[in-house]
Amino acid sequence: MTYQTGGIRIENLRKVYGHGDTAVEALKSVNMQVSPGEVVGLVGPSGSGKSTLLKCLGAIIEPTSGRMTLGNEVIFEDGWKIPDLRTLRRDRIGFVFQAPYLIPFLNVTDNVALLPMLAGIPNEIARKRALELLSSLDVLHRAKAEPSQLSGGEQQRVSIARALANKPPVILADEPTAPLDSERALSVIRILNDMARLAQTAIIVVTHDEKIIPTFKRIYHIRDGQTVEEKGEGRSLD
Ligand SMILES: Nc1ncnc2c1ncn2[C@@H]1O[C@H](COP(=O)(O)OP(=O)(O)OP(=O)(O)O)[C@@H](O)[C@H]1O
Ligand SMILES: [Mg+2]
Repeated sequence: MTYQTGGIRIENLRKVYGHGDTAVEALKSVNMQVSPGEVVGLVGPSGSGKSTLLKCLGAIIEPTSGRMTLGNEVIFEDGWKIPDLRTLRRDRIGFVFQAPYLIPFLNVTDNVALLPMLAGIPNEIARKRALELLSSLDVLHRAKAEPSQLSGGEQQRVSIARALANKPPVILADEPTAPLDSERALSVIRILNDMARLAQTAIIVVTHDEKIIPTFKRIYHIRDGQTVEEKGEGRSLD
């Protein structure tokens, strides 16, 4: 598999939900930049617009205005600039959601292997890579189980494996460590950092988790729909 690279740039992004009296301005003016190989934190109070920002960047919802760039391709500038949003979502963005959405009738291995298979990777190779990811996330022993048979933390680790499976240039993670104990939370962050370095992935991690916040080198704070950048502790993960 070839690695696709390219950072993320977000300029003056605005998102208004609804119209008229009931309109909510969830993002006012967001500016953010994440380089290939970098893992940045995104923190802010409940309702500050964190999930909205990730959904815009992941092309799940459409921003109201502003600009978003992946690599050197403008994907949004006061309207989508690429014709095929499904391919963008499938091949270029890995999503780890607040709640893991695994497909209930596929076993763990096939949940992880599915996107690469849909992207045209032969089944055998996709499953082999899925098993490697499950092993690095410490859930290989559950490879044949169905999602309903897993604990919440195990489901979350499988959903992280799934987000990594297509080696997307961008990974967006919304509270990925919330259901995990501190040792497993740190091992997830270690895997994301390794992924970022080896595959030159740009990774944004939304979190309230005090265990992992000190590991970021850079953090964006979001409040009232606006971002402020801050230097993080960048604590070593070794
Ligand atoms: N589909 C929607 N329609 C209308 N308003 C919405 C919608 N989704 C979110 N909002 C509002 O937009 C604002 C930002 O919501 P968002 O989900 O992005 O916050 P968040 O920072 O992710 O919060 P949390 O930490 O609780 O997950 C909130 O005021 C929320 O009520
Ligand atoms: Mg949220």
